[in-house]
Amino acid sequence: MYDLLLRQCRLLQTDRTIAEVDIAIQQGAIAVIAPHITEPATLELDLQKQLVSPPFVESHIHLDSALTIGEPRWNESGTLFEGIEIWRDRKQNLSLDDVKTRAIATLKQQAMQGVLFVRSHADVSETSLIALQALLEVRDAVKAWTTLQVVAFPQDGIYGGAQNDDLIEKAMAMGADAVGGIPHYELTREDGVKSVHRIFELAQKYDRLIDIHCDEIDDDQSRFLEVVAACAIRSGMGSRVTASHTTAFGSYNNAYAFKLLGLLRRTELNFIANPLINITLQGRTDTYPKRRGVTRVKELWQQGMNVSFGHDCIQDPWYSLGTGNMLDVASMGLHVCQMTGTAEIDACYDMVTWHGAKTLNVSDRYGVEVGKPANLIVLDAHDRYDAIRRRATVSYVISQGRLLATTEAPKSVWHDT
Ligand code: FE2
Repeated sequence: MYDLLLRQCRLLQTDRTIAEVDIAIQQGAIAVIAPHITEPATLELDLQKQLVSPPFVESHIHLDSALTIGEPRWNESGTLFEGIEIWRDRKQNLSLDDVKTRAIATLKQQAMQGVLFVRSHADVSETSLIALQALLEVRDAVKAWTTLQVVAFPQDGIYGGAQNDDLIEKAMAMGADAVGGIPHYELTREDGVKSVHRIFELAQKYDRLIDIHCDEIDDDQSRFLEVVAACAIRSGMGSRVTASHTTAFGSYNNAYAFKLLGLLRRTELNFIANPLINITLQGRTDTYPKRRGVTRVKELWQQGMNVSFGHDCIQDPWYSLGTGNMLDVASMGLHVCQMTGTAEIDACYDMVTWHGAKTLNVSDRYGVEVGKPANLIVLDAHDRYDAIRRRATVSYVISQGRLLATTEAPKSVWHDT
């Protein structure tokens, strides 16, 4: 007797094929995947050929600022820098309860839409380290239904204030999963380079992952990605290192961009693009032509680099919109990066699932495979293309073998004759 049996599944495979199978779950793990399972289960769901996928992965979000839209004021210019100013004011009023309540509400909102793996940045530029402490407590509070990684993110720069370097080291000692950075926002280019070296030093000292906000600016002279790549090559840490945003890569001249791609091929760096937010934040100083402000996703993917998509912000000083739906993210990425070929569309889906899992370094426990933890979602869709095009409803969310959430697909009725 199994705990849960899913009948008539169309199971997505990494090779782009779809298998018609039944899936049995026992004690929180995938027990059997076979064309037809006869043994009974405590709970059986007939999926009637809906799509089964591993859960969505949110590889880049800021849970500490989520759901603070308008507090204390709206970002009228829409720029990254006004967002940082507003957040500087808002974060004076952070409390553990405030951050935890908003973070858990956001995680639930995402989990109900099929997101069960999340990497969040926590601002560690304040002496109290409240945002980090709160998210570490949330990581523990939600572990029965979602996996949360927390990055120690020095929003104001590691060298932007006298205490900031000590604060990020303290954050590592407190248990952050990854070291973050923001080299393009440091006071000088030299400080930016120094900050990247410091990040690698901390990651090696505490044996943690790295996720750097890197070159999130339209300045074609912002070139910290090459510093990250050089450190990754020398340290051998490549697959444990992520370069987030890298929007300046979209502004580099091709002579430099092609040279850089050659350098990147020598690493196993992960890249995260955040198309919803960067299509609105970037290009703000341009008249026309106006740049798209997203990194070279298609080219990195074509070179075999691991690229994932993140939501980045949900209703905060940098991005006033967002519902946490990763199919919205994939759709915007598809449009902005012009990934409209069939393999490219499928890749956009993979950038919010398998590729995100690789970025988070959780591939060993991710995927709908026998023996792995039973984390999966059911989409009211035929395939990846259909799921993205219609922002398909996530009908069922199964977390660690348990039914976590259900959603009914909207249904329209035509009344005119
Ligand atoms: Fe970010």
